[in-house]
Order: sequence, then structure tokens, then C-alpha cells
Amino acid sequence: MNPVFPSILSTNFFNLEAKLNAFAASGIDFLHLDVMDGHFVDQISFGPSLARAVRERFRFGLDAHLMVSNPEKAVPQFIKAGVDWISFHAEVTTDTGGLLRRIRDGGCRAGLVLNPDTPLERLQPYLAELDYVLLMSVFPGYGGQSFIPATLERVSFLKKEMAARGSGALLQVDGGIHPGNAALLKAAGADLFVVGTALFNADDIADMINGFENQLHWSRS
Ligand code: DX5
Ligand code: ZN
Repeated sequence: MNPVFPSILSTNFFNLEAKLNAFAASGIDFLHLDVMDGHFVDQISFGPSLARAVRERFRFGLDAHLMVSNPEKAVPQFIKAGVDWISFHAEVTTDTGGLLRRIRDGGCRAGLVLNPDTPLERLQPYLAELDYVLLMSVFPGYGGQSFIPATLERVSFLKKEMAARGSGALLQVDGGIHPGNAALLKAAGADLFVVGTALFNADDIADMINGFENQLHWSRS
């Protein structure tokens, strides 16, 4: 699985199909869908209908990042839309363990998202029910923000903690990732890299993806 997950939040939707074709031609396996409700975060982005439209046209795995105040309502809609992975924020007051189980029961991989200022300890009760952890390296709500350097220490600490507890969960990072920090994140222990602006602003998408793959020491063969 290609560890680079393009976030489609930053795209001009009139160019989306061309961008997705370019991602498919460049060996991208998963897309990151930034779902924003205008309440948990300021912006409103898109809903399950976009996920379904992408699912009907492309073979990408779909990773839905729910930046919503009411993930209990959103989860069944995105399962029905055919996404493959669903993550929601630990900062949302909900039955976290129950919702993680519900995502898995729906046939999806379950993830929990932590904002940059949320203590890593919040994950502890759920490690056995997590397929992945998403550590935000920006505060959620917008693409194009600067990477928060303290994320590197959080990645490295969490990776060790998860190994010590026998967790097989993957460690995903999201926000402000570009060719200048991807290798550092990989060295700190990150497994998956969500990239928005750096990819959508690239003159040559294939070249940019190739650059990330080299930095991440990943090749399909
Ligand atoms: C921010 C989103 C991120 C963001 C990534 O709330 O969760 O996925 O769109 O985009 P860049 O790479 O532009 O920070
Ligand atoms: Zn995201």
C-alpha cells in the first residue's frame, strides 16, 4: 500500500477527475477524504455522496477523516457510501469504543484522530480496537497550514508505546506534510502520510509522488 494518502480537500473540484486520474497513474492506492461539518471545524467540505461518486469511478481505497461533532450519525452513511477506513476525533464526546467497534462491524478499518494538543494517553483504552491512529500535525479545519514540529516527538513516543503494548495499529500523520519533513516523520515511526497542498500545488504530480516514495523508501516492487 502506497503510504502517501492525497487529501482532496485542497482541490478545485472542477479539476478533481484529472487529479484523481494523475494519482491513479502515479500508483496512489488510497485517498484521504476530509469530511468537515462546519461545527467541529469552521469549514464545510463534502459528504458521503462525494465518497460514493469516487468509489463508482475509481479503484482507490477511501480513508474518511471525520471532522464532525456527531460521528455516530456520519459513520453509517460513510459505510453505506463504500469507504474503506473511517477515523473520528477523540475530542468528540461519544462512546469511542462502541463507535470504533461499529466501524469495524461495518467492514471498515477503524481509526482515532488526536489533535496536536490532545494528550496521547487518550488512546490507551482503545488501542486494542484501533486499526490506525491519526496524529494531526496541524489543527484541523484547513489545508495549507504549516507543520507543527512537536509532532515528531509525539510520533516517536507513540510508536514506542504502541510497540510496547503489542498494538499493530498503523500511525498516520496529517497536515503540512511536504518533501522537507516526510523523511523525518518516517524516521520518527510514521507509517502513513496524508498530503494535500504539496500534491495539489505540484507542477508535476507524478514527480512529487515519486519524490515522496524515495524519501519514504517505498516502492511497489
Ligand atoms: C486538515 C485536514 C488535512 C489537510 C491536509 O484539517 O485534515 O488532511 O487537508 O492538507 P495539507 O497537506 O495541505 O496540510
Ligand atoms: Zn485530514
